[in-house]
Amino acid sequence: MTDGPLRKKILITGATGYIGGRLQIRLFENSALALRLLVRNRNKVNPQLAQEVEIVEGDTFHQQQLAQAVAGIDTAYYLIHSMGAGADFERLDRMSAENFRDACIVAGVKRIVYLGGLGVKDTASKHLLSRLETGEILSARPDKIQTIWIRAGVIIGSGSASFEIIRNLGQKLPVMITPRWVTTQTQPIAVDDVLSYLVASHDLEYQGNLVVDIGCGRMKFGDMLLETAKAMNLKRFIIPVPVLTPRLSAYWLLLFTPVPFKVAAALVEGLKSETVMQNDHAARYFPQISPLTYREAVLQAINDIEQHQVISRWCDSSGGAVCDINTQEDIAAAVLRDQRRYDFGDIAGERIYTALCSIGGESGWFTYNFLWKLRGVIDKFFGGYGLNRGRRDPVDLRVGDALDFWKVVDLKPNKRLLLLAQMKLPGKAWLEFDIQGQTLLQTAHFYPRGIWGRIYWYSVLPLHFLVFRDLIKKIVNRAEKKSST
Ligand SMILES: NC(=O)c1ccc[n+]([C@@H]2O[C@H](COP(=O)([O-])OP(=O)(O)OC[C@H]3O[C@@H](n4cnc5c(N)ncnc54)[C@H](OP(=O)(O)O)[C@@H]3O)[C@@H](O)[C@H]2O)c1
Repeated sequence: MTDGPLRKKILITGATGYIGGRLQIRLFENSALALRLLVRNRNKVNPQLAQEVEIVEGDTFHQQQLAQAVAGIDTAYYLIHSMGAGADFERLDRMSAENFRDACIVAGVKRIVYLGGLGVKDTASKHLLSRLETGEILSARPDKIQTIWIRAGVIIGSGSASFEIIRNLGQKLPVMITPRWVTTQTQPIAVDDVLSYLVASHDLEYQGNLVVDIGCGRMKFGDMLLETAKAMNLKRFIIPVPVLTPRLSAYWLLLFTPVPFKVAAALVEGLKSETVMQNDHAARYFPQISPLTYREAVLQAINDIEQHQVISRWCDSSGGAVCDINTQEDIAAAVLRDQRRYDFGDIAGERIYTALCSIGGESGWFTYNFLWKLRGVIDKFFGGYGLNRGRRDPVDLRVGDALDFWKVVDLKPNKRLLLLAQMKLPGKAWLEFDIQGQTLLQTAHFYPRGIWGRIYWYSVLPLHFLVFRDLIKKIVNRAEKKSST
C-alpha cells in the first residue's frame, strides 16, 4: 500500500466487528483513501485485505497502541463497545471512549465518526445509556476535535443479531406470544444504509459536532415481526400478553433464536423503550441517501443469506473475552486429550482440508448428529449459544468465525483448523485438525476447571469415544467421495 500525499488517512476501529467488518470493504473501494485498522487480533482480518491496508494490533486501553493507531489520521471511525465484557461494561465503555478521544486530540485527528444507538436517555436501557454516554464523551471537546455521531436503532441485515432474532421467530413460530412492548415504536434501518451514512461522513462539509439520527419509517416492533414473516411468504399471528417479563422473554428467544441469553436479554431490554429519530439531520445533511423501506431491507438481508453473501455477523467479535483467540499456548497446557490419527492414503491433502472446513452448520457434524444436537440443547439450557449460530458460509471459514458453539481461532490453508469451544463447560476445550503429510490428526484438548472439570470429562468419555472416533473417518470419507466425483 502506498500512502500518496493526497490520500486521506482513515482509521477504522472495531474492524473485526459486524459494522466495521463491512465498512472496511466499502471504504477500501475508494482509492483516494488510505486505510488503517485497529484490531485486537490481526488474524481476524480478511487475509486479502490485510495485504492492502495498514494494521495496528492493539486496543483502546493501551495508550501506546492507541497513539500508534491514530498517528497521522484524518478521520477515525469509532465502532467499539464493551457489551460482552459483563457487569463492568459501562466503566469500560467510558474509559475506552475517553482514551480514544484524548489520543485523537493529541495526534491532531480532525474528525471522529461514531455509530451509536438511537433513543433518549430518560427511557434508555443500560446498554443504550452507555452508547449515549460514549457519544457524549467523544463529542465533549468540540474546541479540539469534531465528532459526527450517527445514531441507529435495529439494524436489518444478514448476520445482524436483531435480524437473526426476528427472522428465526418468524420462521419457527406460526403464533407468537409476545410481551406487550411489541407495540413499542421503532425505526429500523438496512445495514447498507448505515454504511452509506458512515462512508459519507468522512467528507461531509460541516463545522462543529453533528448528531445524525437514521432510520426508515416508524413502525411497531410487532409489525417488524409480521412484515419479516410476510417477506418470507409466511402468515403469522401475534398475541401480546401482559405476563411475559423481560427475563421470560429472553428465555423464549433463547429457545427459538441463535442468540445466547446475554444478547437476548440486552435486546429485550432495549425493546421496552422507543427508538425513534429525534432529528431530521439525515435528510438535511445526507440528501443523496434514501434509506430502504423495512420490507426492502428484509428482502435484501434474506437474499444475502440465501446467496451466502453474509459479510459479517453479530458473533464475529469476541465480546469481552479479548484473549479467547490468542490462546494457542493454552493448548499445550491442556491436561486431557482425545487424539485420533487417520492415514488418508493418496487423497489430496487439500480435499481433506476442504472437507474438514465444511463441518458444522447446516451440514451437521457428519456423524452422531443427534448427540451434537443434544449437546447444543444442553448448552442452550445453561445459557450458551447451542448449535443455533451455525456458520457464516457453508464452505468458507475465517479466523473469528462462529461455528455452532465453536469459534475458529486458527486456520492454516491445507494444514490446520483449530476451534475453541464456546459452549458452557467446566474448563476450556479446543478441537484441532492437523494435516501432517498423508495423515489427519484430530485432537480434542481439554483443560478442566477443578474437580467438576474432570468429572465432566470422564463422564462424557464414552460419548467422545463414539463421536470423535467416527468424525475423523467421516471427514476422510467425505474428501474421498468429493475426489471421486
Ligand atoms: N449491530 C447493531 O445492530 C447496531 C445497532 C445500532 C448501533 N450499533 C453500534 O455500532 C457500533 C459497532 O457495533 P457492532 O455491532 O459492529 O459491534 P461488534 O460486532 O460487537 O464489534 C465490536 C468491535 O469492537 C472491537 N472492540 C471491542 N472492544 C475493543 C477495544 N477496547 N479496543 C479495540 N477494539 C475493541 C471488537 O474486536 P474483537 O473482534 O477483537 O472482539 C469488534 O471488532 C457500536 O457502537 C454499536 O453501538 C450497532
